[in-house]
Amino acid sequence: MIPRHLGIIMDGNGRWAEAHGLPRQEGYKAGLLALKKIIAYSITRNIDILTVYAFSTENWKRPNEEINAIFDAIQSFCSSPTNMCSISFCGNLENLPDKLKKTAEEITRKRKTNDKILLNIAINYGGRADIVNAVNKILSSQSLSKIDESTFASYLSNSKLPSVDAIIRTGGEKRLSNFLLYESAYSELVFVDTLWPDFDESELDRILYELQRRTQKFGGAYV
Ligand code: IPE
Ligand code: IPE
Ligand code: MG
Repeated sequence: MIPRHLGIIMDGNGRWAEAHGLPRQEGYKAGLLALKKIIAYSITRNIDILTVYAFSTENWKRPNEEINAIFDAIQSFCSSPTNMCSISFCGNLENLPDKLKKTAEEITRKRKTNDKILLNIAINYGGRADIVNAVNKILSSQSLSKIDESTFASYLSNSKLPSVDAIIRTGGEKRLSNFLLYESAYSELVFVDTLWPDFDESELDRILYELQRRTQKFGGAYV
């Protein structure tokens, strides 16, 4: 398969910084540099959408200093957006620091749709929260006694996007950590040990090659 919509769990930033004798916050800055390279390269590989996990609903458990460093890095990335992509967000933006919330709202309002690639940034995102949020919206807006899968999916925050073809997780852990739970039902999963700031074009190429050799069956028979 050739992914059009790729999800990335950008894990390993903190460990990268520690391995270089740097404060963890330097890992988040380095991580966003890696992201810029990967966006540019993804365009050349005809990827239409990158959904990247930047901050999970569980990441609030971290020390305040670290949370602020992560938000600062996202803020600086969003304040000087590259011209190469349009940006959208998924997750609950309500509890974010005011400045980041305003920047995200402004980007959403002015969103261009003619760019070569869409960068969908998951901030304060959790797959479970997104599903529960969808249920609450359905409960408050409809008096349905039954609902089908496609109507349910239309209430998720990524409802306007095609399903995520593949998810890459860097940093060595082999789990989804609450990323795109509903949407990943048939996604191809790729786990690599590389820490996110070290992830580069050649590694993405290697993964795309591996994905090309995988066949998606979606429950059907081998052909
Ligand atoms: C992942 O990097 C990004 C965020 C959680 C924001 P980590 O901060 O989890 O990096 P490691 O896993 O501790 O190395
Ligand atoms: C997942 O990484 C969240 C992001 C990459 C934003 P974590 O580092 O938070 O995940 P766990 O705690 O190892 O499961
Ligand atoms: Mg981590």
